[in-house]
Amino acid sequence: MAAVRNHCVVISRKQSTSSSPKAASACRLPFAFEPIRLHLDQTRKTSGVSRKQIEQACGCQMSGHWFDRSQWSMPSRAHYDTMNAMFGNRLKAYDELFSEYKAVKLQQRHFAVTKDVPFTNVWDFKPVQWYPGKHPCEKPLELMRHIVSASSRPGDVVLDTFVGSGSTVLACVELGRRFVGCEMGQAEYAGAVNRLSA
Ligand SMILES: C[S@@+](CC[C@H](N)C(=O)[O-])C[C@H]1O[C@@H](n2cnc3c(N)ncnc32)[C@H](O)[C@@H]1O
Repeated sequence: MAAVRNHCVVISRKQSTSSSPKAASACRLPFAFEPIRLHLDQTRKTSGVSRKQIEQACGCQMSGHWFDRSQWSMPSRAHYDTMNAMFGNRLKAYDELFSEYKAVKLQQRHFAVTKDVPFTNVWDFKPVQWYPGKHPCEKPLELMRHIVSASSRPGDVVLDTFVGSGSTVLACVELGRRFVGCEMGQAEYAGAVNRLSA
């Protein structure tokens, strides 16, 4: 952890200053799964198979998820095999396409929660009780564990530009994440280092 005086890191995405929908859509991030979606949809079109026919054959109403960008999802192997047979086996091998899908997934911003952890807009964690020397803004370790595990993978680097008591960086150590931390207060910095070394 490095002590940084009067510096802070700001990461922001460029916002459109125009109200035109065209300019706004130009600022949007590209759809990451587009090559896969395009492969599926173009093969479907060149094979002359309608979405309705695919849904009938697959016994579900998932065509919007496989052929449109909104809420796109990778078809299961069984559904893929069904549509590939209808396309005269023009699709790539499932394993090949699935590897491409996994590679894109790994590059995407991670967010992993289960029904057993809080992930709605309001999170309920007990605040840290006062103790001598407590940082006035110390966040509960349990809360930081939740944030770090939901939004990063083991081995990832987590940046905390306001380390304070060190709850976030401690959660990182516990959960196998690397971290970069900044803290301008010498006493706070020393407190966080002590907490990490305990
Ligand atoms: C709200 S507290 C962080 C609390 C922390 N999340 C925790 O659980 O203890 C903000 C901390 O950021 C530090 N800080 C404020 N501005 C800073 C800056 N520009 N660079 C580095 N540290 C800064 C303050 O000294 C303070 O300890």
